[in-house]
Amino acid sequence: MSHRLHEAWSGRLGAILAVAGSAVGLGNFIRFPAQAAQYGGGAFMLAYFVSFLVIGIPLCWSEWTLGRMGGRSGFHSSAGVLHAVLRRPWAKYVGALGFIVVTLIYTYYVCIEAWCLGYAVNAAAGTFNAADLDFGAFFGRFTGAGENGASVGFGLREMGLFLVLTFALNFFFIYRGVSRGIEWVCRYALPALILLALVILVRVLTLGTPDPAKPDQNVLNGLGFLWNPGNVAVDLLNPQLWLAAASQVFFSLSIGMGVIITYASYLKPKDDVVLSGLTAASANEVCEVGIGGLMTIPAAYVFLGAAGVAALAGKTIGLGFIALPQVFTQMPGGQLFAFLYFSLLFLAAITSSLSMLQPGIALLEEGLGLRRRASVTTLCAITTFGAVFVWYFSKDLKALDTIDFWIANVLIFIQATMIVVIFGWVIGIDRGLAEARRGARIGLPAIWGPVIKYLCPLYLGTIFALFLVNKVVGWNFRFGAEAKFIRSDYVTDLVGPDVNPVAIASVAIILALAVASFVIVRVSARRWDEALAKQKP
Ligand code: ALA
Repeated sequence: MSHRLHEAWSGRLGAILAVAGSAVGLGNFIRFPAQAAQYGGGAFMLAYFVSFLVIGIPLCWSEWTLGRMGGRSGFHSSAGVLHAVLRRPWAKYVGALGFIVVTLIYTYYVCIEAWCLGYAVNAAAGTFNAADLDFGAFFGRFTGAGENGASVGFGLREMGLFLVLTFALNFFFIYRGVSRGIEWVCRYALPALILLALVILVRVLTLGTPDPAKPDQNVLNGLGFLWNPGNVAVDLLNPQLWLAAASQVFFSLSIGMGVIITYASYLKPKDDVVLSGLTAASANEVCEVGIGGLMTIPAAYVFLGAAGVAALAGKTIGLGFIALPQVFTQMPGGQLFAFLYFSLLFLAAITSSLSMLQPGIALLEEGLGLRRRASVTTLCAITTFGAVFVWYFSKDLKALDTIDFWIANVLIFIQATMIVVIFGWVIGIDRGLAEARRGARIGLPAIWGPVIKYLCPLYLGTIFALFLVNKVVGWNFRFGAEAKFIRSDYVTDLVGPDVNPVAIASVAIILALAVASFVIVRVSARRWDEALAKQKP
């Protein structure tokens, strides 16, 4: 059992820093602006804030509370926590999702993290200064997006070396443990990244009108591109916008992943969860809306213009890794700012990727009784297989996008729905809120009871139904407009007419890990029952 390791945060602040570190990531600085630009700032922001209130906050509190409850019995993996708290045979299988989801997200997130490191080093080395550099071509070569296996090299302009370094750093800190590893990194990386972000933000907001021949391309218009309300009433009728807003809230807050359950399990039984959960979530929103939302799009706008930015809408990776490097070459002091920007992304990413590994470590240790070295080696082997698959099959980023699509849209929603249903219905909302309030430093108003019990599952169910109708069945209805029948490429990749073998292999990997996880938790249950039996008075 992992409690023999006596892992714990150094204090409540340690837990807040770690959860905030998990939340603040690539989602804040590139995914959010790309999504907001795609759906027109005003309407997207409205849907985003509704999702934040109705599903974001309730899930944060539910996960913090469940995690702390499980930690009391010495459990730290989602599966162990739910098994201990609910004592029902099915609970561990729900908890297994907390391993499957994060481990799979890690396999591609770590690749993007390696790009950030590689881009930072290339910026420092002056590569980005070459005025004639074609960033599309650079990106293709660096990431292999042009041809499968093309980036399998270890030079400055291929991602291999950076992937190895990124893996080594992640597993070094994970090996050091919760407080000496994860908390230590977050303690330094979070303030550092906020400082870097502020420096870059000041640079962007003082860009003015760099090209007098194009007076429209100024910072104010860049901000307006993202923030002007547009035709909110019409835009809000687009179901895809609600889907995108909810997905962004999930991804960004690291909820529905199982991360917070594991992190909160290292709290002490009376440590506050209500204020801590709110603080970590708010810190994420400040970084996302207040920094990510003001920096990336305006910078792109002043150099690439409205048409250039519109072409990037929705394209998280194109915005971060093709457009922005190009923007930096045109900016005074661009080489330095490119270095700072990709360093910021790398710091934001590593505090998030660490949080994707700890749930796996916790499961392997408390489920299979592995010691630290064995658990770290096993998880490293599993994730190396996944990441090398994503790295090698990088043509059109097929493997990366496919895994992201099915995890972010399906498994996260299923896990999130189960967590709120467990909190509101299985544990019962009254007991759930009473647990949350234990040791709380602020009041938890009673109104959250019906929100978590009724509104949140209803909202999640509606969003998931929209996803199925819109992307899987392909019925693209939009109130007030003609419906189109377009299935998502991710579905046609699997069922035809044009099946894609890499997409099929990616889904097979998801299923294989799911089966392996179910076997692990099944095997673990006996050990857990024995430990729980000993705890009875
Ligand atoms: N929450 C993390 C991010 O936003 C995963 O990148």
